[in-house]
Parts: sequence; C-alpha cells; structure tokens
Amino acid sequence: MHEEGAALEAVPRTLMGAGSVLRLGKVIREGWGDSISTVALISGGSSFDRNPLSSRIIAGLYEEHFGLLRFHVSGEPSPALVDRCVADIKKKRQERGAELMVVGIGGGSVIDTAKAAAACATMEEPSLRYLEGVGDLLPAGTRLPLIAIPTTSGTGSEATKNSVLSSVGTAGFKKSMRHPALIPDVVIFDPMLLDAAPYGVSAPAGWDAVTQLLEAAVSTKATILTDLYSFTGLSLSAEAFPSVCEFSKANGDGSSEAERQTRYRVRSDMALAAFYSGIALASAGLGLVHGAAGVLGGIHAIPHGVVCGLLLPPVTEALTMHILSNDGKIRYAACGYLLSGRIKGREAAFSAAREAADSGIVLLNETLASWQHSYPLPGFSEYGFTEEELTALAAKASMKNSPAKIPVEEVAKILTGLL
Ligand SMILES: [Fe+2]
Repeated sequence: MHEEGAALEAVPRTLMGAGSVLRLGKVIREGWGDSISTVALISGGSSFDRNPLSSRIIAGLYEEHFGLLRFHVSGEPSPALVDRCVADIKKKRQERGAELMVVGIGGGSVIDTAKAAAACATMEEPSLRYLEGVGDLLPAGTRLPLIAIPTTSGTGSEATKNSVLSSVGTAGFKKSMRHPALIPDVVIFDPMLLDAAPYGVSAPAGWDAVTQLLEAAVSTKATILTDLYSFTGLSLSAEAFPSVCEFSKANGDGSSEAERQTRYRVRSDMALAAFYSGIALASAGLGLVHGAAGVLGGIHAIPHGVVCGLLLPPVTEALTMHILSNDGKIRYAACGYLLSGRIKGREAAFSAAREAADSGIVLLNETLASWQHSYPLPGFSEYGFTEEELTALAAKASMKNSPAKIPVEEVAKILTGLL
C-alpha cells in the first residue's frame, strides 16, 4: 500500500433520501442563484419518461422558471452522441441571456454523456480529440455546471473524473475523457428513482460496483484514503447486492409500506456502495476485469456490467491462486470477510485476514461463485463474441494495477469458458 503521495479526488456535494430529486429546481437555485436560465436534461431512452416521478421533476424545474433542453441516450455513449448534444447546447448558449447547466439523470451511460457534454460545451473541438489513446488533446479543465442523478447503482460515474465513450466495430474502442473537472458539482440519490430499476439493469450494475470495489481494494495503487471507501462499499454490498437483485426480480409489486421502506434502505445502501466504488477507483485504479472490459466493449455492444458479472468470479479465483505478496493476500481475505457478511467493519476484517488469510480468500471465492449462480447473466456468445475473438483479445487485457498476474493462456481460457 502506498501512503506516500496518497490522494483522493474531490467528492461532490451529495443529497440523499426518498423524494430528494423533487428538489432539483431548488438545488440549482441554491447552488447557482439566478445565473442559470436553462437546464440541458440528459436522460435514458424512455425509462425516465415512464417513471411517475419524471413529470414532477420537470414541473419543479418549470416552477423555478428554467427553460429545458431535452436529450435521450440509449446504449453505450459514443463521441458522435456527445457531439450531437454539444451542438444543441452551444446553439442554445448563443441566444442572448441563455446560461446553461447540464443535468444527467439515468444510468452510467447517461451520466458519462452528461459529463462529456458539459465539458465539451466549453471547448472547441469534437469529443473524440479529448479521448485518451485515440485523441490528441487534453481536456481544458472547464465545463458547464453539472448535476448527476443516478437511477442505477453500478458505475459510480457520478463520483469519477472520467467519461467512458465507445465506438463499436473492427476499429472500435472504449476510451476515457479524463480530468478532475469532470467530477459533478452535485449528486442526488433518490431511492424512489433507484427502486424502479428492473433485474436486467440492477444485476449487471451491481456486479459492476462490486467489481470496482474489489479491484480498487486490492489495487497496487490502493492507499489509506481509498481503502476507507472501497472496504466500506464492500461491507455495504454484502447485504445490498443480493437484496437488490431479489427485490428487482420480484419487481416490488403489491408490497407493504414497511417492505417499501426496507427496499429504499437497501437501494440507498447499494447506491452508496456504487458511489464509493467511483470515489475509490478514481484514485486507486482498477484491475484485470476492467482491463478486459475495456477491450471487449470496443468489439461488440455488450453492457459493461455484464462483462464484470461474468468475469469477476473466475478472474478473482485465478488471481488469488497466483498472488504472491502477503499484503495482497490479506487484502483479498479482508474483502472475503466483508463481502460474505461474516464480518462488518474494515479494521475487524483486516484483523481476521491477518490471522486467517486463506479462509478469507475461500470465503471471497465462495461468495462470488454463489452470487454468479443466483444472479446469472447472458454469456458472451449472446452478444456475438466468438472463441477466436476472445482468444485474440486475452493478450490485450491490461493487468496494470492488478496485485497478481495471470498467464495470457489462462485469461483466454477464462474468456472462452464464458461463451
Ligand atoms: Fe466498471
């Protein structure tokens, strides 16, 4: 663990609670006074419009006399999509007296689009030129005011300094626009909104959050600052992840007020776990599962959370067999004690891990395997991947911050075993 030079990125102003999203108009006035005239509202394909809260949120914005510019995002965000939003925002900004801010209300794709659009609206060039690896410019570090309202608990994009954009195909990529200025000003978590996510959304999103927490917790870049968030997030996930999967399977129909309150508590816990995963990964980085996800997501349109859910159990099993350092073993074991729910609290989990590291690692692998069994996801072939493609992709998956390395042939075996 590196405590020298340890750093934590900014944490946005955070509001939480059932009905908190209905205060959106007031939150904007509190934060920016009369300097904002128009809200560029970026939401999902149609899920937000179907939510009974959406008309009340929009009515609240009109009550505060905001003009509205609407954008709908479906699928993984691309540079072309961001550029279309930016063109409309820039056009509106040319109107006399128009001062815009961006509000992203949706899953990780929506929030990533909102972050990139808010930044690119203050810069000259197309978004592609600011992407790491494929572009040639650094973001200027400016953006329009930005509020993120997650409707899923997964990517933690509401807390991170990057926006992931992809272009699918033979020359495809999945790359980040990265700058601390991309961290939103305000994040609002409302369990009434979060509770609308169905199983097909909640399960992959939850797998993404758990993967990010685990990868940040064992990362070679983990520090005392990031540990606070990653291990607390793992402890929250122990109950929240399986509960959210069960709730969303049952769809919440016909439940009593007491059951609804329990659902809201668990949805809030999972939202916090995802938020903490974003805070932790922004400084600690991620591991092999995300290294592979970055490559896979550029080839076929596969939801990011599905890649995480498929890969996390077998990759963790392989990494824990190859790990050599004592610190790495203790970290994996502490994750196991927390994620299995055997122990609550980071210090107690580390004590148990120092005494019995192997048992903690067994618990970790057992918990992940049982969750994969209970909350299954479609395999790679459902998204068009072939054995040849996966074998070729194995060598490209980054293990940069991973505490252990796995031979490429073993990575290929894991990938092709998930067809
Ligand atoms: Fe992720």
